[in-house]
Amino acid sequence: MVKGKKFVLQKHFNGFPKESDVLIQEEELPPLQDGQFLCESLYISVDPYQRAYPQKVGSVVLGSQVARIIESKHPEFPVGKHVIAYYGWKTHHILDGTELKLSNLVTPPPMIIPDSLDVPLSYFLGVLGLTGISAYFGFLNICRPKPGETVVVTGAAGAVGSIVGQIAKIKKCKVIGVVGSDEKGQWITKDLGFDAFINYKTDNISKALKELAPEGVDCYFDNVGGEISNEILKRMNEYGRISVCGSISNYNDTEESKAPAVQRIVVGKQLKMEGFLFKQFLNDYQQGVMQLTQWLKEGKIKSKETITEGFENTFKAFTDMLKGKNYGKAVVHVTKCKL
Ligand SMILES: NC(=O)c1ccc[n+]([C@@H]2O[C@H](COP(=O)([O-])OP(=O)(O)OC[C@H]3O[C@@H](n4cnc5c(N)ncnc54)[C@H](OP(=O)(O)O)[C@@H]3O)[C@@H](O)[C@H]2O)c1
Repeated sequence: MVKGKKFVLQKHFNGFPKESDVLIQEEELPPLQDGQFLCESLYISVDPYQRAYPQKVGSVVLGSQVARIIESKHPEFPVGKHVIAYYGWKTHHILDGTELKLSNLVTPPPMIIPDSLDVPLSYFLGVLGLTGISAYFGFLNICRPKPGETVVVTGAAGAVGSIVGQIAKIKKCKVIGVVGSDEKGQWITKDLGFDAFINYKTDNISKALKELAPEGVDCYFDNVGGEISNEILKRMNEYGRISVCGSISNYNDTEESKAPAVQRIVVGKQLKMEGFLFKQFLNDYQQGVMQLTQWLKEGKIKSKETITEGFENTFKAFTDMLKGKNYGKAVVHVTKCKL
């Protein structure tokens, strides 16, 4: 009998998530039936959508992981293989290879990670996972950057933003990253090759953009929404393209914010603004991963991770990420469960 642990939602998040909103519970997993396999989580992803998506009280907290198959009665998922799975914040789970319903969300079926790529397994939650895919397709398909254009990325030192900025450099654009500290700004400019940064906590965004991009902004990859995005929209050039990936600046709001008047800007400048969910790119996942892997191997993009040790610290890793403590992708390394 295998024993596992899971984080169960006790209360809907209201404002900034509190430790008392979740509870770690133990569970015994039943014996495998034909067509099933047992996964043990190696790395768990903590992501902003876990705050934004309305989850059901009593459900396992949503989340994806890289897991090892430790027992199997499914011919296509043999013992020893690694999978990207979406069974929430759990140490162990029994899957049957199909999609899963968690908190009213249908999560994608598990996907076997090819052994041949020779990169750290945790990358499949970051640069080679839904983060990288969102950055790659969300930026290239929607912003359609051209060499010499000016690109602004918010959340620029985070998982998605740090990859978007580096792809924009590969595409020979001028890239300005918006971040929450000067240290993050130094990192994205000195280590990742961004041309400049704006610290949204201390700089006047409008003034800084006038100085750093007097030519105006052609592409905006929006991870944060809110006031920051409004200021950036005002600096867009005619026919500019905006890819809306997320709006983390309001995920913890307890009241609906008053709608800013973006339509006037969008119409006046004839902007194209498009939101996306990563799942629309899953059919092209292989192509994106191959290109990102090649860029990683050629040293054209760097992947940074902020790794928290221990399953029990998953909630802390999550709130640290929401507070902006992460550089690059925030993941939890699930050490062997002590039961
Ligand atoms: N559409 C999709 O399919 C999809 C897929 C993945 C992610 N997303 C979205 O993409 C965005 C980034 O996700 P990620 O996984 O890459 O997370 P991340 O950027 O690695 O981590 C979140 C970051 O948000 C910043 N932040 C927190 N509060 C903020 C605020 N009030 N204003 C501005 N920035 C704030 C923090 O950085 P600072 O220190 O710079 O504040 C923090 O490090 C999120 O909005 C997420 O929901 C969407």
